[in-house]
Amino acid sequence: MMTKSHSEQLSRYREHVNAAMEEALQERLGPRARDGELAQAMRYAVQAGGKRLRPALVLAGCELLGGDPNQAMYAAVAIEFIHTYSLIHDDLPAMDNGEMRRGLPTVHRRFGEGIAVLAGDALLTEAFAIVALGPTEKKLPVERYLQVCQIFADVAGVRGMVRGQELDLLNEGKPVDLETLQEIHRHKTAAMIRGSVVAGAILGGASQDDCTRLSEFGERIGVAFQIRDDLLDVSGDAAALGKNVGQDIVNEKATYPALLGIDESHRRMEILLNEAHELLLPYGDRAAFLHDLATLIGERRS
Ligand code: IPE
Ligand code: IPE
Ligand code: MG
Ligand code: MG
Ligand code: MG
Repeated sequence: MMTKSHSEQLSRYREHVNAAMEEALQERLGPRARDGELAQAMRYAVQAGGKRLRPALVLAGCELLGGDPNQAMYAAVAIEFIHTYSLIHDDLPAMDNGEMRRGLPTVHRRFGEGIAVLAGDALLTEAFAIVALGPTEKKLPVERYLQVCQIFADVAGVRGMVRGQELDLLNEGKPVDLETLQEIHRHKTAAMIRGSVVAGAILGGASQDDCTRLSEFGERIGVAFQIRDDLLDVSGDAAALGKNVGQDIVNEKATYPALLGIDESHRRMEILLNEAHELLLPYGDRAAFLHDLATLIGERRS
């Protein structure tokens, strides 16, 4: 269980991130009253909610290294825009054909497939415009923001999430071995989670050693996050999750429970989370919040 003060910290982060996303949308789209279909679809997807785990990791990574989390707020917004785009596209009929997301009908069901594709495209593009605002507004060295751009492109694109989504699709209905399954999960999910912590840490002034260590940490919690997602698809509650369950079997996806069963999937998730906790040990008490986020990933029901 997360401590009370950490769950309050997570809620505080979420509120700040939500407010910053609201501002970013206002800045880039103009007033809501003038929204066309595309802008409406973008706001619909972002404002539907979501745990905001990746932004929390950005802010926590920055704080861990002694930075002011406010200075990482643009990066936090950007990664959540990229994540939201990935969900819109993941739900498309050509991919997972999802009906519900964040408790609402998926963007393509509400606005049509064409607009859903474009809303994803637009959120991805806007994300980089938002990171580029950082240096002028936050007064940190420009190089740090350039590094963050590079990391986000790496973890979201053909070396990261998009590559994972490709593997996920190509392996539907096929028998996969553990190595392939790990490659899928590392790319489609762990990459973005890893990139979140590392980007925050870089904005907070991380050394190369910090980046390596936190990248390892992010990879462990990221794969654990997707194992938990696979498990929740088998036995979770659709209302709590805000999305339909049982979809991985329908789509014949390569998942941990399908390959290894429920118990072994749990066991592997716990091993990864233990490794993640160990990687944080050099940071002592400063990493208390990140420890709790890792624990939350293994226990989450939504
Ligand atoms: C869902 O991510 C997609 C996966 C990578 C499993 P989240 O579970 O973080 O979704 P939201 O952002 O809270 O809606
Ligand atoms: C999603 O994995 C990974 C992404 C890159 C969005 P899933 O397809 O399992 O995510 P859900 O279950 O639809 O949220
Ligand atoms: Mg998918
Ligand atoms: Mg999906
Ligand atoms: Mg899933």
